Amino acid sequence: MRHKHSDYMHWSKTQSRARFNLATSGVAPFPLRELPVKVEELEINGDDSYGYAPLQQAIAAHYRVDPECVVESAGTSMANHLAMAAILDPGHDVLIEYPAYGPILDVANYLQTNVRRFTRAEENGWAVDPKEVLRCITPKTRLIVITNLHNPTSAFTPESVLREVGDIARNIGALVLVDEVYLDAVYEGTPRTSFHLGPEFVVTSSLTKVYGVSGLRCGWILAQPDLAWKMRRLNDLYSATPVYPGELLSVAAFQHLDLLRERARRIVEADRKLLRDFLEQESAVSAVDRKWGTTSFVRLQARNVDTFLERLRSKFDTSAVPGRFFEMPDHFRIGMGVNTEMFAEGLNRISRALR
Ligand SMILES: Cc1ncc(COP(=O)(O)O)c(C=O)c1O
Repeated sequence: MRHKHSDYMHWSKTQSRARFNLATSGVAPFPLRELPVKVEELEINGDDSYGYAPLQQAIAAHYRVDPECVVESAGTSMANHLAMAAILDPGHDVLIEYPAYGPILDVANYLQTNVRRFTRAEENGWAVDPKEVLRCITPKTRLIVITNLHNPTSAFTPESVLREVGDIARNIGALVLVDEVYLDAVYEGTPRTSFHLGPEFVVTSSLTKVYGVSGLRCGWILAQPDLAWKMRRLNDLYSATPVYPGELLSVAAFQHLDLLRERARRIVEADRKLLRDFLEQESAVSAVDRKWGTTSFVRLQARNVDTFLERLRSKFDTSAVPGRFFEMPDHFRIGMGVNTEMFAEGLNRISRALR
């Protein structure tokens, strides 16, 4: 039977909520009333058959790339799907990081590819090791998939390492897909997109996680023009046209990106301080310290994580994401950037549950 679902997505939509919800990955919702846009400027229908030109231009300008390289998509979710489906055929090898964001694996399995893995080791700060990538690559590998920042650990992969991975891919005629949906959560010296590193790089992202406007579903792919065109044609099978009012609002969001990002940044940074204190105080948990990112991947010592999280939810009304969704059952993921009071109380309740 062909794989046709995502256990993580289902859990996230039906089981992740609690009063103290630390099972998040994106920042707090940015309210429409704070976006300087007038309802009279919106419209329901418009010219957007292969994307709305002003939005494509806004995305292209943000990255300093040619608009021909920009493919609009419904969030990074559809961006990843389109990118993988356009590049991969059944039976191709795809090399995906381990641990990985579940839906990336689900799409690769749905596409009937041979999923191979390269490990990001915890003792190495969950970094991408090009030697490990080289060890795991095969002549049939068509695509290497990395998230940067890494979900769940928020590890950052620098350009020097991405270049090495790009060289490995180029030598066998493969491409590198970098999901950069969390990259702009590096607030100081925000790195440029890896799309600039060479034609073997394909990048996906959206305004969902770092900017708080997930409801707009404003996502995109950056790819070389011929591949970008293939992806637009493939998207014809999924959705005739994008949602026009969403595109108008997305253009407005792009005009005020700093406003959106700074609002969330304050919360993320306050939450990170609390998380550091918590990790210092609690000997039963540990995580790699980071200066960036909206998620932290926490190891729980000497306890069953699922049992712990079930109790945390039922007795303490607090949620976090079980590590099994990242194939790491000894860990759980905590999200920052939504509401610092809630985050503080959530951590407090985790401490109580640990006692
Ligand atoms: C690595 C990664 N890619 C893509 C997505 C989906 O993003 P979007 O909401 O833009 O579809 C997520 C959501 O958690 C994610 O963590």
